[in-house]
Amino acid sequence: MPPTSESDVLIIRNLKKKFGEKTVLNGVSFGVKRGETKVIIGPSGAGKSTLLRCINRLVEPDEGEVIFDGINVLSKDVDIRKIRARIGFVFQHFNLFKHLTALENVKIGPKVVKGLSDDEAEKIAVKALKAVHLEEDAFEKYPAELSGGQQQRVAIARALAMEPDIILFDEPTSALDPQLAGEVLDVMKELAKKKVTMLVVTHEIGFALNAADEVLFFYNGRIWERGEPRELLYNPKREETKAFLRRIADLSL
Ligand SMILES: Nc1ncnc2c1ncn2[C@@H]1O[C@H](COP(=O)(O)OP(=O)(O)OP(=O)(O)O)[C@@H](O)[C@H]1O
Ligand SMILES: [Mg+2]
Repeated sequence: MPPTSESDVLIIRNLKKKFGEKTVLNGVSFGVKRGETKVIIGPSGAGKSTLLRCINRLVEPDEGEVIFDGINVLSKDVDIRKIRARIGFVFQHFNLFKHLTALENVKIGPKVVKGLSDDEAEKIAVKALKAVHLEEDAFEKYPAELSGGQQQRVAIARALAMEPDIILFDEPTSALDPQLAGEVLDVMKELAKKKVTMLVVTHEIGFALNAADEVLFFYNGRIWERGEPRELLYNPKREETKAFLRRIADLSL
C-alpha cells in the first residue's frame, strides 16, 4: 500500500445519476483519505451500489466528478482499465473464477494485469491469502469446495494482491450466515487497523462502530446524514436516519 497521508485518495463531487426517469444519485459529495475506512448505510434503493459502481465507471454518472488520486476518472481520455486495476472491488456474491483454485484466483490479477512472473505472483498471492487467514489446506481448493466465508476471504485476498489504493465493498457479508460473516468482518477490521483504505456498504453496525472513521447514511440518492460512527449510530439527528437504525436494530434482535 502507498504510505499513509492525509490526502484524499478519492473525491466525489455532486454526483448525479438517473435510470430513465428515476433519480438514483442526486448530488453526492464526499472524500476518502488514505488509510481511512468509510461506511455507507441506508435503505434498499437508496443508491449505494450505484455510487460504488460509478467510481470505476461500471455505471456512467450523468453529472459530477470522481477524482481518484488526482485523476479525473470521468474524463474521456482516461484509461479506465488502469484506474480499475488500482481500485479493489468486493461484491456480495464473491465472483470468483469457478475453474480456478483459491490460490489461482488470487494470482491471476498480479500475473495478467500487472504482468508479474508466476513466482512473483505466487508470493504475493500467498501473502494475501495469509492476510485473510485462509487455512493453508484451502489454497488448492476450488470455490465450490470452500465455505461462503472462505470464498469471500479469497475475494478480499484477490483485491489485496493488486495492492489497490482503495477497496470498495458492496455488502460483503449479507449473503453469509452470522458465523461466516463474523470471520469476514474480523478480516476487514484487521485491514482497517492496518490502514488499508476502504469504502464499505454494509449494515453491520458493529463493524461500523469498530472500524469506521465516518458513517454516511444514504437516503433517496443523497447523503442524508453523516458523522462519526458513535454519534451517527447512537444519536442520529434526522427522522429517516432514526427510523432506518430502528429497523436494523429490530432485525438483529
Ligand atoms: N442498471 C440499472 N437500470 C435501471 N435501474 C437501476 C439499475 N441499477 C439500479 N437501478 C435502480 O436504482 C435504484 C438504486 O439502486 P442501487 O442498487 O444503487 O440501490 P442500493 O442502495 O444499493 O440498494 P440495496 O440495498 O437493495 O442494494 C433502484 O431503484 C434500482 O432499481
Ligand atoms: Mg446495493
